[in-house]
Amino acid sequence: MSIGIHDISAATGSLVFPLADLADHQGIDVGKYHRGIGQTEMSLTTEDEDIVTMAARAVAPIIERHGTDGIRTIVFATESGVDQSKSAGVFLHGVLGLPNNVRVVELKEACYSATAALQFALGIVARRPGERVLVIASDVARYELESSGEATQGAAAVAMLVSEDPSVLEIEPVSGLWTDDVMDFWRPNDRSTALVDGRYSVQVYLEALEGAWNDYREGGGADYSTISRVCYHQPFTRMAAKAQQRLDRIATDGSAPEVDRLDGTTQYNARIGNSYTASIYLAFLSLLDNGPDLAGERIGFFSYGSGAVGEFFAGTLVSGYKEQLRAGHLDGMLEERRLIGYEDYRLRHIAFDRVGDFATADESTGDVRFAGVTEHKRLYERR
Ligand code: HMG
Repeated sequence: MSIGIHDISAATGSLVFPLADLADHQGIDVGKYHRGIGQTEMSLTTEDEDIVTMAARAVAPIIERHGTDGIRTIVFATESGVDQSKSAGVFLHGVLGLPNNVRVVELKEACYSATAALQFALGIVARRPGERVLVIASDVARYELESSGEATQGAAAVAMLVSEDPSVLEIEPVSGLWTDDVMDFWRPNDRSTALVDGRYSVQVYLEALEGAWNDYREGGGADYSTISRVCYHQPFTRMAAKAQQRLDRIATDGSAPEVDRLDGTTQYNARIGNSYTASIYLAFLSLLDNGPDLAGERIGFFSYGSGAVGEFFAGTLVSGYKEQLRAGHLDGMLEERRLIGYEDYRLRHIAFDRVGDFATADESTGDVRFAGVTEHKRLYERR
């Protein structure tokens, strides 16, 4: 029996802020962003969007196509949770109108947890092959204004339906694992923006890649020559290029790579920014949508979450997967985003931390909106 990703869909925030405007206001050459970190824009959320509304938007086409039969588990991965106790997945369960006989949980380990969610989903389906699991990765990536991470902010959600006999990707059982207790990036409970030691985080990311790759190979993982592309966690797309260079060096005898294993994987992330847990699966969706037909080929995945955890695994693209894709769906959403200027961007950043009861302006474009807070309870409504 093969198990893996049967369907995948994504959504992003309704606003876009170009990095050229940020560079302009900082008085620096935009080349630092466009070429230096490989980012052109960042997606931002409106007041009435959050990780739940983006998740609802990502999952809607999957439910429209496959229905909800057999979905008895939702695993919601995020590091920008909206409640300290209740899973964002339960809010999602509510707005989707799913039946009660579903288990729902939220997972956290920085940008890595969607990969844990995927692994848990594979385990559930292995035990109960008729069941399907909804894996959600949804995040709003926020740093302080004028901090080193500011240019890498972003927002997006990816939803994946995991089942037996998947139509998109069959995931292999071998995984390479790596964990180390470090402080490269973190967000204490009293902050809505992350703290980061930027250069150190890049170094730890590369160490994690090397550690996870070595563990993958020692555990019987596939030879590098059989892996045709690698999807990386992309806090910024140049990070993936640095990682690819490192892997080319450690996984080969040093000879020049015959294929560019990043090809096709960076288009969405360059326009969205960091989307934490969703980022690696946006890289995968970018490959599916923008790459050539790679049916039958093995794809590697390197998932990284600061703090820090890394995992390398692989899967094979299923014959006919291209027919399952929604051509132009995410590109359309990216084009539809409303362009905002520097002042608006700053004001929204400052206004993000609202407390007490409030109602939000109706300004997002998805079917589900975050209406505000009443008596400390978050309210979501369908349009
Ligand atoms: P910085 O230190 O301001 O930038 O921010 P820099 O001076 O290192 O420049 C960046 C690159 O642009 C350099 O290239 C420059 O040479 C180049 P590199 O040496 O890296 O190849 N550059 C230019 N190129 C062309 N034209 C120019 C120009 N000027 C400069 N005019 C930093 C970089 C990564 C520190 C910052 O973006 C940051 O703090 N980001 C947030 C942290 C981050 O993303 N870390 C990545 C690894 S950790 C991770 O992935 C986990 C994370 O997603 C969180 C989670 O797990 O939840 C963050």
